[in-house]
Amino acid sequence: MARSGSSLLRKERVAAYLESIGQEFLISHLTTLEPPQRENLLNSIRTACWDELQNTYAPPDVIQACPVEVVTLEDREHLSTEIDRIGHAAYANGEVAALLVAGGQGSRLGYDHPKGCFPIGPLSGNSLFQFHCEKILSVSEETGKPFPLLIMTSPATDDDTRKFLKEHSYFGLPPEHVSIFTQGMVPTCDANAQVLLAAPDQILKNPNGHGGCIEALAESGILERLSRLGVAEIIFIQVDNVLAPVFDPTGVGFRRFRNADTVTKVLLKADPLEKVGTMLKIGDRDHVIEYSDLPFTLRQPATEQEHALIAWGRPALEIYGVEFLRRFVASGARLPYHLAQKSVSAWTPEGFLERPGIKRERFIFDILPHARNVNLEVAREREFAPVKNLTGVDSVESAREILSKEYARWLREAGVEVVLEDGAYLEISPRFASTPEQLKRKIESLPDFPKLVRGNLHLV
Ligand code: UTP
Repeated sequence: MARSGSSLLRKERVAAYLESIGQEFLISHLTTLEPPQRENLLNSIRTACWDELQNTYAPPDVIQACPVEVVTLEDREHLSTEIDRIGHAAYANGEVAALLVAGGQGSRLGYDHPKGCFPIGPLSGNSLFQFHCEKILSVSEETGKPFPLLIMTSPATDDDTRKFLKEHSYFGLPPEHVSIFTQGMVPTCDANAQVLLAAPDQILKNPNGHGGCIEALAESGILERLSRLGVAEIIFIQVDNVLAPVFDPTGVGFRRFRNADTVTKVLLKADPLEKVGTMLKIGDRDHVIEYSDLPFTLRQPATEQEHALIAWGRPALEIYGVEFLRRFVASGARLPYHLAQKSVSAWTPEGFLERPGIKRERFIFDILPHARNVNLEVAREREFAPVKNLTGVDSVESAREILSKEYARWLREAGVEVVLEDGAYLEISPRFASTPEQLKRKIESLPDFPKLVRGNLHLV
């Protein structure tokens, strides 16, 4: 009698709990499960932070918005050499780390492994991870100081990433300088905010967005450790931008010189519809606003003023002050969740079905309104070659072409004549040279280096 009374009470408590989080539709499903499965499902629900999920992004009012202030490429030509000196010293003192976010599901690429394992090298087939790791290695060899690499994975990419990096001996990086940490997951819901299932006893979850790196860095203890080691800046790059530079003395120098919390690299959008976030200034703070969150009039700018307002885009290359991130976390502030509609495979009593799902993701750029930020213009063709799709815009194809063209520029700067024939590729391993300056020095030291390059060339 007592036992059935307490189980009744428990059932009521569970029902009340599910109602309180708006998931009462699961009550009847729970009754179809055996006790261990029931417990699994309840645990899977309880570990999701339902309160935080209510923190949904609302686009700011852009009525008062004005164009962001930018240190343009032209301005950069006349900068004080002091800024570069400060930046170089920061690297030379080992005070800079790189953060590679690699937890995304890469659904557009349709590749069965973590995107970082994708063979992007046009001639070598080297992976995105190899490109990034070798760039890091090249910097630390140049400075003689450790250059910590922080790699964020998600439960979707963690095992494969660790295995891949280990199998390739971290592409020459000392393993103790590579920290792999995992971001959090959040429930994936349907259009009625009801959670979808991954199995009868598991709710479906998705990685919580690249903005999840802030809490994951804090919870893993990495942020604290960086601060103890005297690391003051984190260079943020995305795994799918094969050109993303990790050595940026001007950016780091600027952050220090201006005493800024963040440096955001910006570029002139190719057109108003380009799929990069738009930079806007509202009040005295910078914001990044996704295309879909821009008011209709700004999505199709008509006047010169509107064009100027949305001219600057975000290529996802930033520098974050470590102390700024620590203060942000300590303040208890959390980034909001953006909602994105995406088709997902969900378990149903009828089997797995493709369902319209709502994914919640945090975006790191939402920290900007909390920051004193400096915007630095970068040349698109030098720093931005994103790999989102197999073909077309922002694809494997386009990234390989951008890479080749960029390497052609490096070679020309080093005094080599280059004829880039149709269908031919150039590739320079970061182990050979990771900057135009390094390439020039290298070529000068090789008297037999060809004066003319035509067709494929792979420098390793
Ligand atoms: P994208 O927004 O392009 O997402 O991520 P994605 O998962 O790589 O690709 P799609 O949209 O499914 O096709 C931009 C960067 O942010 C990382 C990705 O790994 C990529 O480097 N990211 C994204 C994370 O680290 N975690 C996430 O939860 C989402």
